[in-house]
Amino acid sequence: MKESVGFIGAGNMAHAIVEGWLGKGLAKPDEIFVSNRTPGKLQRLEEQFKVQVCSTNEGVVEKSDVVILAVKPQDLETAVENISSAFTEDQLVISLAAGVKLRKLKKLLPQCRNLVRLMANTPAKVMKGSFAYCTLGDSLRADSFMDRMFKPLGFTIKLDEGDAFEAFSVASSAGVGFVYELMIYWQEWLEEHGLDPETAQQLTIHTFLGASELALRSGTQSLEELQSRVTSKKGITAAGLASMRELEIERLLRYSFEKSALRDRELAQE
Ligand SMILES: NC(=O)c1ccc[n+]([C@@H]2O[C@H](COP(=O)([O-])OP(=O)(O)OC[C@H]3O[C@@H](n4cnc5c(N)ncnc54)[C@H](OP(=O)(O)O)[C@@H]3O)[C@@H](O)[C@H]2O)c1
Repeated sequence: MKESVGFIGAGNMAHAIVEGWLGKGLAKPDEIFVSNRTPGKLQRLEEQFKVQVCSTNEGVVEKSDVVILAVKPQDLETAVENISSAFTEDQLVISLAAGVKLRKLKKLLPQCRNLVRLMANTPAKVMKGSFAYCTLGDSLRADSFMDRMFKPLGFTIKLDEGDAFEAFSVASSAGVGFVYELMIYWQEWLEEHGLDPETAQQLTIHTFLGASELALRSGTQSLEELQSRVTSKKGITAAGLASMRELEIERLLRYSFEKSALRDRELAQE
């Protein structure tokens, strides 16, 4: 990594990104600076990855070419308002805060010329993250950083800020939890039918992984095409799918996505 990177906030996302970067050899621990509100997570990050710990957020800002704001949306203002003058106009500032728009970031850090709003998710730690970003200012610099540091951690795309960006955010962050919800019931059904918990969990994981990996490697084939390949007329898959549709799984999912999108907007307002 050519630039030093600082994280304000040492929670789940900072942890996932640092783990991904170090795992891929994209950064060295002495190029990463981290601060946190309370010491617990900070110590864990230092012990696990040997990154540089700063006792204040200001310390992170002073030492970093790129500053990543990795706090919850409701904590963002408090995290930067008293130290906004420490930011310089040349720094690249990347906010992970869900729902917080570039316009709001610019208001908080008026002198910063290069602002990025990034949506990320925790599968970044195993290089299977999903990232969407939009920029204000020098987008060449931001694009180059995203290409170098985030593309290797998963699927990365630049989007305009708006409805599509919000949908991406909800599907990639809440979506991971939704998939686990399905997996929990999958495993439970297997256990009820006699599989031990470990086997049931492994089968569940491998079914989701297998379906995803196959889809990933099937080029331009649509999900509908892939599904029809494993669904013979009057077969067992067709029988189960008919029930899923009768019970309106589509409506259930749409409703859940909309609820998450609503909460995303509420959190950004708080
Ligand atoms: N996790 C996900 O899957 C995910 C997905 C999409 C987007 N995001 C976004 O990523 C951001 C980080 O999420 P997360 O899951 O990593 O949250 P998290 O685990 O709660 O981490 C946030 C960290 O910020 C720290 N913090 C709060 N106020 C601070 C302040 N004033 N100064 C310094 N540190 C402060 C907290 O410290 P304490 O230890 O004292 O609480 C906590 O460790 C959020 O904005 C979220 O919307 C997360």
